[in-house]
Amino acid sequence: MTIDYNERIPNNVDLQNDRRLLRALEKWQPAFLRWWDEMGPVGAKECHAYLRTAIGADASGWAHFDHVRMADYRWGIFLAAPEADRRIGFGEHKGEPAWQELPGEYRSELRRLIVIQGDTEPASVEQQRRLGQSCPSLYDLRNLYQVNVEEGRHLWAMVYLLQAYFGRDGREEADAMLERHAGHPDRPRILQAFNEKTDDWLSFFMFTFFQDRDGKFQLSALAESGFDPLCRTCRFMLTEEAHHMFVGESGVFRIVERSCELMREHDTDDVRAHGGIDLATIQRFINFHFSICLDLFGQEQSTNAANYYSQGLKGRFHEAKIDDDHRLIDSVSVIRVLEHASIGTREVPALTAVNEQLRTNYIEDSRRGIGRFNKIIKAYGIDVELRLPHPAFHRKVGNFAGAHVTPEGEVVGEAEWDGRRALWLPSVEDYAFVRSLMRPVTEPGKMAGWIAPPKRGIHGQPPDFQYVRFD
Ligand SMILES: [Fe+2]
Ligand SMILES: [Fe+2]
Repeated sequence: MTIDYNERIPNNVDLQNDRRLLRALEKWQPAFLRWWDEMGPVGAKECHAYLRTAIGADASGWAHFDHVRMADYRWGIFLAAPEADRRIGFGEHKGEPAWQELPGEYRSELRRLIVIQGDTEPASVEQQRRLGQSCPSLYDLRNLYQVNVEEGRHLWAMVYLLQAYFGRDGREEADAMLERHAGHPDRPRILQAFNEKTDDWLSFFMFTFFQDRDGKFQLSALAESGFDPLCRTCRFMLTEEAHHMFVGESGVFRIVERSCELMREHDTDDVRAHGGIDLATIQRFINFHFSICLDLFGQEQSTNAANYYSQGLKGRFHEAKIDDDHRLIDSVSVIRVLEHASIGTREVPALTAVNEQLRTNYIEDSRRGIGRFNKIIKAYGIDVELRLPHPAFHRKVGNFAGAHVTPEGEVVGEAEWDGRRALWLPSVEDYAFVRSLMRPVTEPGKMAGWIAPPKRGIHGQPPDFQYVRFD
């Protein structure tokens, strides 16, 4: 289905034939645009960025590339095509037809799930809003803007569900999405990882590597939902999320590559003097972002998560590929627990541990990415390995909240942990150093000195293509 960009709100949900919903969304639109103006990317308005835009939501070529004036960007509502006779794939309702209307008995649970997901989308735009002013290249600036406009669209996706299916309280939740702000002292975003600062590009690439990967897993679990509109919304969002993770993974990769290059060139581990980011600092950023993202998956054992699963609202990653009863009636899972001075395990009903299972899937996926960084380090003949810290390290949610665990998984005393903190997590000096490297590079084909150029351009364009124009 082709999308008509002449409409005020481009969509593939037949909005023009639902006057009530159209009016509600048209009322919300100016508030969204105001928010984008005040909280969106600084200095972007008059830029023309070479962006990918959705022109249809089916698998065959949904994307269109062109220079778009940022102020003219059109956010729309796109759902993946419906699957004929789709059935609920798990929980108590397994095998029943998927719900096309909101199941009244699960109204508050679904609203909660949609609000939590929706809140992360504008949060990331707010967190990244100043990065354009210190872009390492036009290629990277374009990628930042692409991620930003799509996160804005993800907010539209969740607001569409709220407005279309939840009536008055849906409208109130939609308004509240624009009232909470990342890092605001009184009205912060719901999840802590979305209140952290993202003021430098190393943090941005870590964010798109780790936080957007959390997005992939949360959206995948929601894409299993028995509530079909939620499933179809998330399926389309996942196609965009894949690009965000590409930006993160290739970004960190290029920083690591440049550091290795400088290490060989100057025969030193300490590349700071040569304008690079040392691998030890990169490791500390990994430790920070990974640990705050693990918190996003919630408690190891959770009654809420068990209910969402049983009710058919939120499934597991690739539910259909898992070989079990998809009800988790008698099965067990193993979770990690803190036992005095060490970390042990405990067997619990699998139904209560679906959060932990999703977190485990996330860890495996993250590890594959880290493996790619290590390949390039090895290719340079450098004897260093980047690693994910132990899952109990630096946690604020769940069984290890407040525990003092090293990146190797050793439980230590508070004083020892505090004493070694600067070895494990970015310090004020680390942030100051990384920020000192952040100078804008806006000449086509030029690249900041702390990052290697990308292997290839966007959509077949050459590296020195004018990915962003400032006219
Ligand atoms: Fe998103
Ligand atoms: Fe994303």
